[in-house]
Amino acid sequence: MEILHIDLGSHSYTIHIDSGLLTNLPSYLGSAEAWVVITDEVVDGLYGQELVENWNHNRVHKIVLPAGEETKNLQTVEEILRKMLNFGVTRRSRVLALGGGVVGDLAGFCASIYMRGISYIQVPTTLLAQVDSSVGGKTGVNLPQGKNLVGSFYQPQGVFIDIKTLGTLPRRHLISGMAEVIKYGIIYDYAFLGYLHRHFEDILSLEEKSIKKVITRCCEIKAQVVAEDEKEEGIRKILNYGHTIGHALEIATEYQHYTHGEAVLKGMYVEALMARELGLIDPAYYNEISALIQETGVGLNLDELLHKNLINSMQKDKKNRGGNISFVLPCNKGETAEVLMTKEEVSHLLQKL
Ligand SMILES: NC(=O)c1ccc[n+]([C@@H]2O[C@H](COP(=O)([O-])OP(=O)(O)OC[C@H]3O[C@@H](n4cnc5c(N)ncnc54)[C@H](O)[C@@H]3O)[C@@H](O)[C@H]2O)c1
Ligand SMILES: [Zn+2]
Repeated sequence: MEILHIDLGSHSYTIHIDSGLLTNLPSYLGSAEAWVVITDEVVDGLYGQELVENWNHNRVHKIVLPAGEETKNLQTVEEILRKMLNFGVTRRSRVLALGGGVVGDLAGFCASIYMRGISYIQVPTTLLAQVDSSVGGKTGVNLPQGKNLVGSFYQPQGVFIDIKTLGTLPRRHLISGMAEVIKYGIIYDYAFLGYLHRHFEDILSLEEKSIKKVITRCCEIKAQVVAEDEKEEGIRKILNYGHTIGHALEIATEYQHYTHGEAVLKGMYVEALMARELGLIDPAYYNEISALIQETGVGLNLDELLHKNLINSMQKDKKNRGGNISFVLPCNKGETAEVLMTKEEVSHLLQKL
């Protein structure tokens, strides 16, 4: 088992990574008066039922949510909190989030506000959640006006990653997770980017050594960045590479067309093009980035940038400052720079691509 430590003072915790870890999960978790397993219908059928049935504890409650992004809203939060009250859950109970980023963000947020906060554990089952959303303590839900507009920074007590669960994940969601994986290489670790090039098919076919290495390296990078800047006041912003365009594409298409990862793949491609146009990266490095993104098979059609709502959507971005749109763009290999641009400058640059 790989064990990583995320150093956040009094709320430090460990990330455990292994194949088949779910079978013995309760033995790693320590005690609680009661457990509340929060999961979605798909993950419940695959893993939740078995976990709860084999759990040798007399108070394990389960809340099963509909699968998908539409569930990530305030109404679901209220339903979860009411159920927890009806179960008689106290502050000495703990929440266990079993599922992808939707379940993790919801369960973490509920844990952060239930009786002013009870502890929770992340057990991510999608690649995206294993390399990104389960680590770092961002929790929250969407409002009709936009994504993740309500939430909290609330660190889990531990993260338990069972690589084996990826075996049932549809390829589309595996590719979505690869968006964040590739992102780490571009923003932080050029050697890792090379590894991804060389082992792309091994990773997608879940060859154990490669996928374990990938998840471990991504968690190391995320842990390092979050430990330096928990509340995103500085270096944590680098994790937003590809996300200014990506989020805008998601908003402009009303979250119907792309998964988050697909939008981020397109966003990273366009933002790499922007970086080349601005002279931040040379054509050879741009080619390396775009070749890797293209290996995912996600189509890269620049016409999508002509969508009339794209720039308007970018103006709603949480990262913007002083009326300017903020981009995190690659500069040197494994490094990024924040670039602020007016709406007109962005529009002009996109037309040149
Ligand atoms: N908190 C953060 O730091 C952070 C970071 C990135 C993304 N997010 C959030 O994460 C969410 C996206 O997460 P996601 O991509 O995991 O989506 P998701 O949770 O919707 O999962 C995708 C689909 O896969 C299914 N699934 C999950 N595990 C499975 C498995 N092992 N086998 C088969 N099917 C499985 C789910 O039921 C769902 O239908 C977004 O809401 C995004 O905002 C949060
Ligand atoms: Zn993301």
